[in-house]
Amino acid sequence: MKELYKLFSENEKNYKLIYNKDYRKRYSQYFTDFDYSKKLVLSVGKDIYKKNNLNILEPAAGTGNLILSLLLNLRNSCVKKVRIDMYEIDANLIPILTSNISKLKDRLKNEIKINFNIINKDFLKQEIKEKYDIILSNPPYKKIRKTEISNNSTYINFFIGQPNIYHLFLIKNLDLLKDDGYCVFLSPKSYFSGKYSEKIRNYIIDNYNIYKIYSFDERKKIFNNEIQQEIIITSFTKRKLNDTIIEYNNNGVYCVKQKNIISEKNKKSIILVPRNKKEFETIKKIEKSFKFNLGDLGFKIKVGQNVIFRAKNKYKLFTVPYKKNKTIPLIRSRHFSKNGLNYSNNIKGKNRYISMENKGVREYAVKNDNYLLFKRLVTKNNKKIFNVIPYFKNFFDSKYISFENNFVYIHKKNFMIEELYGLYFLFNSYLYDLYYRAINSTHGLNIYELESMKFPSINIIREIGNLYLVNNISEEEIYNFINTLIQ
Ligand SMILES: C[S@@+](CC[C@H](N)C(=O)[O-])C[C@H]1O[C@@H](n2cnc3c(N)ncnc32)[C@H](O)[C@@H]1O
Repeated sequence: MKELYKLFSENEKNYKLIYNKDYRKRYSQYFTDFDYSKKLVLSVGKDIYKKNNLNILEPAAGTGNLILSLLLNLRNSCVKKVRIDMYEIDANLIPILTSNISKLKDRLKNEIKINFNIINKDFLKQEIKEKYDIILSNPPYKKIRKTEISNNSTYINFFIGQPNIYHLFLIKNLDLLKDDGYCVFLSPKSYFSGKYSEKIRNYIIDNYNIYKIYSFDERKKIFNNEIQQEIIITSFTKRKLNDTIIEYNNNGVYCVKQKNIISEKNKKSIILVPRNKKEFETIKKIEKSFKFNLGDLGFKIKVGQNVIFRAKNKYKLFTVPYKKNKTIPLIRSRHFSKNGLNYSNNIKGKNRYISMENKGVREYAVKNDNYLLFKRLVTKNNKKIFNVIPYFKNFFDSKYISFENNFVYIHKKNFMIEELYGLYFLFNSYLYDLYYRAINSTHGLNIYELESMKFPSINIIREIGNLYLVNNISEEEIYNFINTLIQ
């Protein structure tokens, strides 16, 4: 069957020669590499292949890569007849899709009877009565305005803030699934956490089971470097399941109870994806041992207020040289170093202050106080996921300071130094590193995610800080102490 893969690949290549990257981007035409389409197909529960007839849906078919991998996988099963509905909005793809699937049908004619319908329409606008055994989907991804969703559509209630078109595909796909069917969905991972997708996530958790999650670091290969987001393959069903299967990269699979990878509190929910069974067990212990969210302990988490180019445009808020009592220090990511802020005054020609005389300045400034400061960009390839340092108010002799919006900071009224160090060591620990890796679904620190994490009591946080400040014990011993908290 290698010749079929070759044929599909060549047709895709030729299509890409005619329709350039910009054109394809408009429709979100990121076709799935065959290594991944096979993974996607392997995420369908095998029990469905005991049926003789299957009703299959591909809601955003492209050149048909997912259907090719699925049908080749069906050859040695009980399935003898399939009916496939394929939607594709772009008329320019229809000739290739038709030709590809016709060849596939012909090649498999002695093994499976294939009936297919190619529908050159917007999937989201179709009223579909059918229900499907298998839905395979790698839908378009792009942010859309809420006003693009009609008010009486069933989707409207699922959204808070700005939706992404793939959210609509997910809801509609799930709705079209038979009770014993499987929907396998390849998409950005962002719906696993975050405020905007909270209602969708809660709907899924309440009504569906997750059969399998396949997550991977390798993003470049999957869409030939055309997508920069974190991608995940998730298989949903309404069947009762004992376990959810998790696969991370190609490191083998492990099984968990679904409830143990869902972190929920006050309607806030996150689907966790630990990298292996050992990390899963550790996270389970963290969630069991620690009871408090940062909000419960009086902490607030915020993003730095100063979006420099906006401040410049809106208030002409340019940086100026230091002037005692007349300027506010502007703290930018270039001042961040592992050992703390590096704000040396000796860098020539660098104006690092903003003038207090500018009327917009208060919008961009915060009280000069103790803060726990994070770089917003998350670097998963690095040894440590958090780039975090404590900031002490005595660093500047200034009433206010201004953080660039490349920072996230944690703050609290009367933020004591032992609390600051306690949190600093927790975030720097091995435990919180693997905990956040399982939670984070983008490449940035996400406030919703940080707010959902569990922490020990404020007294324990102070105790950790005091180990450093008072007892003067080594960092290694502090991390050992943190490990004992979840035994
Ligand atoms: C990310 S590509 C995936 C294609 C194919 N499923 C694959 O995995 O190779 C999404 C496809 O959906 C098509 N598309 C975009 N919006 C659509 C819509 N509203 N209805 C149907 N198809 C759509 C695009 O033209 C594109 O071919």
